[in-house]
Amino acid sequence: MELSKELLFNLIEITSKSALACYPYIGRNEKILADKAATDVMRSELNKLNIQGKIVIGEGELDEAPMLYIGEKLGNGVGPELDIAVDPVEGTNFVAKNLPGAMTVLAVAKKGNLFNAPETYMDKIAIGSHLPKNIVDLDFTVEKNIKNYAEAANKKINEITVCILDRPRHKKIINELNRLNVNLKLISDGDISGVLLVTDKRFKVDIFMGVGGGPEGVIAAAALDALNCQFQGRFIFETSDDIRRAKQMGIVDLNKKYEINEIVKGESIFCATGITSSELFTGIFKKKDKYVTETIFTHKKTSMETIKKEFSIT
Ligand code: FBP
Repeated sequence: MELSKELLFNLIEITSKSALACYPYIGRNEKILADKAATDVMRSELNKLNIQGKIVIGEGELDEAPMLYIGEKLGNGVGPELDIAVDPVEGTNFVAKNLPGAMTVLAVAKKGNLFNAPETYMDKIAIGSHLPKNIVDLDFTVEKNIKNYAEAANKKINEITVCILDRPRHKKIINELNRLNVNLKLISDGDISGVLLVTDKRFKVDIFMGVGGGPEGVIAAAALDALNCQFQGRFIFETSDDIRRAKQMGIVDLNKKYEINEIVKGESIFCATGITSSELFTGIFKKKDKYVTETIFTHKKTSMETIKKEFSIT
């Protein structure tokens, strides 16, 4: 069973419609309403598909957020059995404040092929394609990662740019990168986009590193896998509740470092529609009597492609 082109186009339609649903909330300081609007559309549209889908990365667990929760079954019960990862609004603050970088994201793989991730943080490191294996590693020091990368990519250290979430928890890493004379791209939110910036030279980001959401890590890994880029992730279980959930999900080794092929197996589809514009795409805009959406996607081992869709303004 393959993930068909028809499924891909259906998923692009769904992220586009979900993005459109939160368009009225751009700049309205209503991040929860925006997230709900996108989530409701995503759920009802996924339920129309001929699939037997299960959410493995979602908007929380049933008891805490009854919207696209982990374990929720989706689709009309006929067709391929799929694992589905959703992030109806990645960058809820961006929508609320009308800032660049908000998007609607979906990733899909065959049943059992997407990592079932708990809602905890994940330590991540990602680099682009066409680089030797094992040059960066979560267990290396920042300095070793940078020096190895510089040598492999044939760059000077001051020509390297690292993207990282601008958070107090990254103070040590950021200080070390400053000491080494590495260029920083400090992002305020949205680390799926941050990770995606390593996929193409035009984004001018060499390495993504640091701690962000675990679910976001799995979703980004799906895109990177299709593009032959490199990614490692390690979940961070801080509270006893985190540990309980992890164990419930079958995670035995709580300190395990996951390679990309342990997070995503086989074929996958990734698609993300821009709500507000970013380096990756133009956000939703109006053209005469239509809304135009732009979606980036990966399917099998292809390059990242972009597709525009028009929707009538009703
Ligand atoms: P939301 O869109 O769910 O608000 O997440 C935004 C985000 O920046 C993610 O991209 C990132 O993985 C996570 O939050 C980082 O979490 P924190 O803000 O706690 O550092």
